[in-house]
Amino acid sequence: MMSADKGSFVSDSSNLVSLTEVQQHVHSRIDRKLSDFIALQTQAADELISAMDYSLFSGGKRIRPLLLSIVGDMLGAVQDDVDVASMAIECIHAYSLIHDDLPAMDDDALRRGKPTNHIQYGEATAILAGDALQTLAFEIVLNHDLSSGNDSKRIELARMIASASGVNGMCAGQSIDLIATGKEISLQQLTQLHELKTGALLSACVSLACILAPNVKQDHVVLLNKYAANIGLAFQVQDDILDVISDSETLGKPQGSDAGLDKNTFVSHLGLEGSQQFLQKLHLEALQAISSLPYNTQQLKEFTNFLVKRKY
Ligand code: IPE
Ligand code: IPE
Ligand code: MG
Ligand code: MG
Ligand code: MG
Repeated sequence: MMSADKGSFVSDSSNLVSLTEVQQHVHSRIDRKLSDFIALQTQAADELISAMDYSLFSGGKRIRPLLLSIVGDMLGAVQDDVDVASMAIECIHAYSLIHDDLPAMDDDALRRGKPTNHIQYGEATAILAGDALQTLAFEIVLNHDLSSGNDSKRIELARMIASASGVNGMCAGQSIDLIATGKEISLQQLTQLHELKTGALLSACVSLACILAPNVKQDHVVLLNKYAANIGLAFQVQDDILDVISDSETLGKPQGSDAGLDKNTFVSHLGLEGSQQFLQKLHLEALQAISSLPYNTQQLKEFTNFLVKRKY
């Protein structure tokens, strides 16, 4: 299903590798590490582990680990440390999707081309799988091995993940999304909704990489945060656009879900063309933010271009 643009760039070892290859490496590494970690959870009932596995390993694009990995690599962070943050973020992301699809929320039956978690396992187990994945994220950052220089940063990592996913982040956005459904909200409120429900977790990936990297200058963190805010919003604007122009087979989730639920989206506010123009603006602002960084930003630029052109 995945077809990243075939841009190429110089890796650490100075071999030319495509973004697709980097994505495949990150994907298989995170899959292996996550499944090794899940295999250690021997107390849980098989049904719960199976429901967690179903949403962790059912074909997600692993965009967030890819972003973490690219930024971490660019800033000189230790790859194994960055992978710990990626595993935690993927657990949070998987949980957010399970709950997002529930009948009480978007009531969707298809995700990544398969029945959603609650269709497969029932609502109660799906809710628990989401809960367990959420707390597993914190077990990962609090317990997993980190290099000695980063061992003292666990609290900072946990704080970042909590604030991006909880009452000041993704959950806040999901709550505004529910309250706003079927109502008129301003463009400013819609922007805030999208920044929180989707942007916060993507931005956290950049922040986590900055925390784990040695000696990143504050000026550069500010620029990276600006970059992250733009791509975080862009990701959900593109999600809104794809919900209108794509089809369920390509998306792996039901096309037209937003309109069916009378959701506030960028397309419902700005129209299709207006949303595409806005996406372009965010894309350019993201690239602008990283243009003066004294790092090799080639991979990050390739990633940014891929993100706004993705088809699902
Ligand atoms: C989907 O995220 C939910 C949104 C935040 C729009 P992704 O498109 O990253 O989902 P998967 O993990 O690749 O399925
Ligand atoms: C919600 O946005 C993203 C989450 C916080 C899970 P959507 O409801 O638009 O995500 P999809 O389209 O179902 O993936
Ligand atoms: Mg939703
Ligand atoms: Mg949804
Ligand atoms: Mg959507």
